[in-house]
Amino acid sequence: MAGISAPCTGVLVAIAAVFAMMSGEARASEEAVDRATQTALSLDAHPDRGASQFNHYCARCHGSHAEGNANRSIPALARQRFAYLVRQLANFSGFERDSNSMHGVLSQIELRGPQTWVDIAAFLNRVSFVNRAQTGDGTHVALGRGIFHEQCASCHRIDAHGDGDGFVPSLRNQHYSYLVNQMHKLGEGRRHNVDEDLVRFLHSFDEQDMNATADYLSRLRGPGAVHKVMRNDGVVVD
Ligand code: HEC
Ligand code: HEC
Repeated sequence: MAGISAPCTGVLVAIAAVFAMMSGEARASEEAVDRATQTALSLDAHPDRGASQFNHYCARCHGSHAEGNANRSIPALARQRFAYLVRQLANFSGFERDSNSMHGVLSQIELRGPQTWVDIAAFLNRVSFVNRAQTGDGTHVALGRGIFHEQCASCHRIDAHGDGDGFVPSLRNQHYSYLVNQMHKLGEGRRHNVDEDLVRFLHSFDEQDMNATADYLSRLRGPGAVHKVMRNDGVVVD
């Protein structure tokens, strides 16, 4: 962990201790997970190290090009937002997001620390796309487009590429099956460290609306039309 100052190392040890104290499915508090996320985001990322860790520990499920696996509802991770990826790895590590697969992977001693999360996230954030996302059946794509622009684009952005500052994921280049699955999980409160209003909002969606929106999103390919936007205060942000 080159470049980390002594006090910072102290924080890492404290976080490791909190997570190590948890047994079985016991959850870290949302605050502990959010602190771990902030600590991770303050570290220098090493994408080359992240690439070899990804190939060693993650590619067997997420694919060698981080393209995911539609049949198993495993997400594509290529070009996902850096801060969002780090936060989700912290959530899985602290059991604030359910997934036996991910809990098993991240409990391995080599992958426990925040340094690993930023290294792998930095690699994934830069990896090239493969256009292999599974789509829906195409019946209600127009409905899905309307719903997305009216109800989701304010957070996920008009081209669905997400928002780094707000930990909002990109929904582009993602498998239909995974998108539908996660809308259900979010709406049912099975992702825990999430704003309650968002949970209520997605809970109110019916099956057809979810399928239609996921189908529309699964057809958005590549990096997105809009990369930089100007905020009201004139600052251009990614
Ligand atoms: C045994 C299979 C398996 C392995 C190995 C695995 N994953 Fe996953 N991963 C999954 C599954 C399944 C999900 C979806 C979990 C859910 O349903 O919420 C997932 C979800 C994720 C997500 C959430 C993505 C999002 O869009 O929210 C991230 C990030 C992630 N994995 C990163 C990794 C990293 C990094 C590694 C290697 C250190 C890894 N995974 C190894 C199966 C695996
Ligand atoms: C108030 C802002 C907001 C709105 C509105 C919103 N989302 Fe999200 N969405 C988020 C945030 C933040 C997350 C990440 C949650 C987390 O940290 O686990 C998310 C996560 C997701 C995910 C999971 C992605 C993944 O990779 O696991 C999907 C799918 C999703 N949203 C779809 C939608 C759809 C479809 C709509 C509109 C019907 C919508 N969202 C509206 C903020 C929003």
